[in-house]
Amino acid sequence: MRRTLIAGNWKMNGSLEANAILLRGLQAGAGSAEADVAVCVPAPYLAQAQVALAGTGIALGAQDVSAHASGAFTGEVAASMLQDFGCQFVIVGHSERRTYHCEDDALVGQKARAALAVGLTPIVCVGETAGQRDAGRTGEIVSAQLDAILDALESSDIGRIVVAYEPVWAIGTGKTATPEMAQEVHGLIRQRLASKNPAAAAGVQILYGGSMKPDNARELLAMPDIDGGLVGGAALKAVDFIAIIEAAG
Ligand code: PGA
Repeated sequence: MRRTLIAGNWKMNGSLEANAILLRGLQAGAGSAEADVAVCVPAPYLAQAQVALAGTGIALGAQDVSAHASGAFTGEVAASMLQDFGCQFVIVGHSERRTYHCEDDALVGQKARAALAVGLTPIVCVGETAGQRDAGRTGEIVSAQLDAILDALESSDIGRIVVAYEPVWAIGTGKTATPEMAQEVHGLIRQRLASKNPAAAAGVQILYGGSMKPDNARELLAMPDIDGGLVGGAALKAVDFIAIIEAAG
């Protein structure tokens, strides 16, 4: 039985003051959750979030990681550094990084491998653009993204990753995939995982991301292969994020 995971992606939002308020709100409301809960915060705030979340049962994650272990890579953050600050998760291959930082599937695969090497769980993001969906290429695009990333990993690592299906056209737009549309792609993702490691695929959590909100979370999470959410905008308000967590319960 797969546990539900609700992971917040704060993106490049926050301040010491605003985070303190948000984290207090989460401490108050998310403690008794039946779902697993995580928040992926901007790197400079990992220490603040680590202290605030200690003992709450809410896991900590980062939003990106270097593909390299250490060395002359100015501006990069190594997986071991994330681990130093108590991270369990790191998002890799978010569409915003693919778009604005030219990350391709090969690099995303290397980042996932770097995370796994220190025991972090990579949340591997895949998803099609509106144009690709309109052209009927969703399955082909998502499969190609996933396969390229999985090629960078050992098949024994398949059971140690989380996958997030995030249709690019749904991110931050208020447009959500219908539960049926999302389930179709989640089912396909599980098949691709099974082709690499049949035993592990059934246990991999596949999250949906893209304008998940308190009012659509329940029906999305009711689908058989939707095992949680990667939540952007709605993770910035404690009441909304907690409502999504409750919908998962
Ligand atoms: P959104 O973002 O919930 O604001 O659409 C999701 C994401 O990009 O992870």
